[in-house]
Amino acid sequence: MSQFEFHSDLSPDVIAALKAIVGPDALFLDQETRSIYGHDETEDLNFPPAVVLKPKTVDEVSAIMKIASEYVIPVTPIGARTGLSGGALSLHGGIGLSMEKFNAIIDIDERNLQCTLEPGVITQVFQDAVKAKGLMYPPDPASRGSCFIGGNVSENSGGPKAVKYGVTKDYVLNLQVVLISGEVIWTGANTLKNSTGYNLTQLMIGSEGTLGIITKIVMRLIPHPKHDLLMLVPFKSAEKACEAVSAIFRAGITPSGMEFMERDAIVYAMDFIGEEPVPLLPEDQAHLLIEVDGNDLEALMSDCERIAEVIEAFDCGEVLFAEDQAKKDQLWKLRRRVGEAVKAQSIYKEEDTVVPRFQLPALLKVVKEVGKLYGFRSVCYGHAGDGNLHVNILRDEMCEEDWNKTTKVGIRLLFERVKALGGTISGEHGIGLVQRDYMDIMFSESHLELMRSIKRVFDPKGILNPGKIF
Ligand code: LAC
Ligand code: ZN
Repeated sequence: MSQFEFHSDLSPDVIAALKAIVGPDALFLDQETRSIYGHDETEDLNFPPAVVLKPKTVDEVSAIMKIASEYVIPVTPIGARTGLSGGALSLHGGIGLSMEKFNAIIDIDERNLQCTLEPGVITQVFQDAVKAKGLMYPPDPASRGSCFIGGNVSENSGGPKAVKYGVTKDYVLNLQVVLISGEVIWTGANTLKNSTGYNLTQLMIGSEGTLGIITKIVMRLIPHPKHDLLMLVPFKSAEKACEAVSAIFRAGITPSGMEFMERDAIVYAMDFIGEEPVPLLPEDQAHLLIEVDGNDLEALMSDCERIAEVIEAFDCGEVLFAEDQAKKDQLWKLRRRVGEAVKAQSIYKEEDTVVPRFQLPALLKVVKEVGKLYGFRSVCYGHAGDGNLHVNILRDEMCEEDWNKTTKVGIRLLFERVKALGGTISGEHGIGLVQRDYMDIMFSESHLELMRSIKRVFDPKGILNPGKIF
C-alpha cells in the first residue's frame, strides 16, 4: 500500500548504521536466524526479514526508526512468534525488530494495583510475578507460557478467562510508543479513568505493529480470587453443548472459563500430550470445560450445582469435577494444547470466528455446512462463553489447488455467514496477513479507507509492518 518504494534489502551503509546502534551482537544477517524470525505459528508460512535486530533500549528503537524512515525500510515488530494470523512475518523483508530483550517487569505498584512492564515479558512470567503479590492479570492466551505481553497487546489477545474478566484491551492503561519519526510518546495516563482527547491507547491495541513500536506497557491488575472450581462435561451432541452455554449465563452465573472442545479436539490433544485425563465414551461428541472462581468457596459450589442442573436439559453425560490442583492443571493442559495437537495432525488454516454468544450453535452448524460444501474437515474448539470458536480447517490430503483456492472461497462464505449471525472474523488472533483479504466482508470501502487514513497519519511511508490488516 506504500506509494514509496521499499528498500527491503539493505545496503552495506544501512547495515553499518544499524550495527552502530544495536551493537554487533544484536544484528543478525545469517540465513538461519532470518528464517527463524521469518515464521510464527501461522500455517507453514515463512517470510524472513533481511536483517534481525534485537534492540535493548528505547533510544535504540528510536534511532532504528529514524534510519528506517530515512531509507524507507520496512520494519516488522516481532514478539515470541506465537501469532496465528501472520502479524509478525516480514512480508516485505527489511528489518525484523525482535523485542525479546525488552523483558523487564519494571514495577509492580501494589498501592494502585498496576504494573509497568516491557513488551518482551512472557505473559505467564508476568502473571506469576503479580500472583506472588496476591494480584491477577487475567488475559491468558493458550500460548501464555511462551507468548510476549507485547504481542498480546498488539493482537488484543483473549484466552479462557476473557469470558469473565475481559481481554487485553481491558487492562492496558498506558503505552510508551516509538513513532515512525523516532519520537517517543505515552498514549494515555496511569489512571483508571481518562477522558482526555482521542484514545490512542486503545487505537494502538490490536493494531498489529502497523502504527508504532510499543516499548513499555502499564497494565491494571485485580486482586487474585482465592478459589476456583473446574468441571468437564461431555455432551452427546456438539450443538447441544453449544446451546447449554448461553443457558448457563441466563441462569445468572458468570463462569471464569467456558471452553468448548469438539470430540476430535480432545482426541488429538490426548494423543499429543500422551495423557488421558478423561474417559472418552463413544457417544461423547463434545465437551464443555467450565470454571468458576471467587473468594467464597460455598458460593462457588452452589454455582457448580446450579450449572449441573442447567446442563441436564442439554443431554449431557457424567460431569467430572477436578478434585485437586493436579487434575485442574491436567484438564487445562489438555485444553491449552489443542491448537498444537491439531497442527501436529495436518497443516491447517485457523479461523477465529466470533458471534454473539446465543448464536454459537448456529455458528457451529454453519461451519459444518460450509465444510461439506467445499470438501474440508474442521476441528472446532474455543471460548464458547465469548461466542468465539476457533475453526481449524485441516489440509489432510488436499491438493495444492484446493488448499490455496477452493478453501479460500469456502472461508469467504463462512465469514459471510458469520457476519450474518452478527459476528466478526477475528475474536482474538487478529487479521495480520492471512485474514486481510476478507476485510471487505466486514467493512465498506469508505470504512476501510478511514482505517487506511489513520495508518497514513502514523506511518506516511507505509513502512511499519507493511502488508498487514489491509
Ligand atoms: C486457543 C488459541 C488458539 O484458544 O487461541 O487455544
Ligand atoms: Zn483462543
